[in-house]
Amino acid sequence: TPPIIRTKAELRAQVDGWRRAGEVVGVVPTMGALHDGHLSLVAAAKAACDRVIVTIFVNPKQFNNPSDLDNYPRTEEDDARKLARFEVDALYVPGVDQIYPEVFATTVSVAGLTDVLCGAHRPGHFDGVATVVTKLFTQTRADKAFFGEKDFQQLQVVRRMSADLDLDVEVVGCPTIREMDGLAMSSRNLLLSDRSRVKAPALHQALEDMAEGLRGGASASALAQEARARILSAGFTEVEYLDLRANDDLSLLEQPDRPARLLVAAWLAGVRLIDNIAV
Ligand code: PAJ
Repeated sequence: TPPIIRTKAELRAQVDGWRRAGEVVGVVPTMGALHDGHLSLVAAAKAACDRVIVTIFVNPKQFNNPSDLDNYPRTEEDDARKLARFEVDALYVPGVDQIYPEVFATTVSVAGLTDVLCGAHRPGHFDGVATVVTKLFTQTRADKAFFGEKDFQQLQVVRRMSADLDLDVEVVGCPTIREMDGLAMSSRNLLLSDRSRVKAPALHQALEDMAEGLRGGASASALAQEARARILSAGFTEVEYLDLRANDDLSLLEQPDRPARLLVAAWLAGVRLIDNIAV
């Protein structure tokens, strides 16, 4: 299993040595409960970097709901074991005090991109993400950072923030890894009962059906209306959003006349699931 580092001082000492030797350092930020989606980011990092740091930190600032934070799966030993075959150079698992010391007053906030989609439904969420990712970038001093398209809005927010703040980290987006039935892998899938789990693929199916409709020339809003009804009849309790949006600025579209994605968030048995596909 990879060497586990728990303090930013130890991390700094380790990374300083690598950087002095001219090695390219990659980071894969996670909140743990690792699955094949996370591991695909690790594989991409290994292929592109001399040294790879995986971070596990369940970031309290990005949870807008306290019970969601409490219920978030924590499986550090299993996670370390899953990383063994990748020959990761460090597993950074900071305590909360290493990221948010008692006196801490700064928030990184990305305007515009965070007004829509998950940002509109989870107040403060992306401030929490941008703040912690900034800290993880500066603490690891990584050259490259790997993020999943699964969280497409997060990927775009991190790209904007990294460029705006001259963090000098190349943000690399990686494709979504899915279960056999199409469900996007997610740590939250562990929270679904067997009965709910069989309903979950309806979310991805709705996106695929909508993409098909767009290819046939129908408008996104008309297709979304039908698709919402199908998601609800499959057993979901609420569809927060189901939109066609431009990749770069996430503006709402009726037709994919620019590079675009379909993005959805919906609740199934008390669990919030998100997904998106390119069109
Ligand atoms: P977490 O949900 O653990 O995800 C860590 C990374 O794995 C993110 O970049 C996410 O997009 C990616 N990922 C998750 N599921 C994936 C899948 N099925 N296929 C491909 N990639 C997938 O996202 C976070 O943590 C946090 O917000 C974090 C960035 C660590 C900041 O706290």
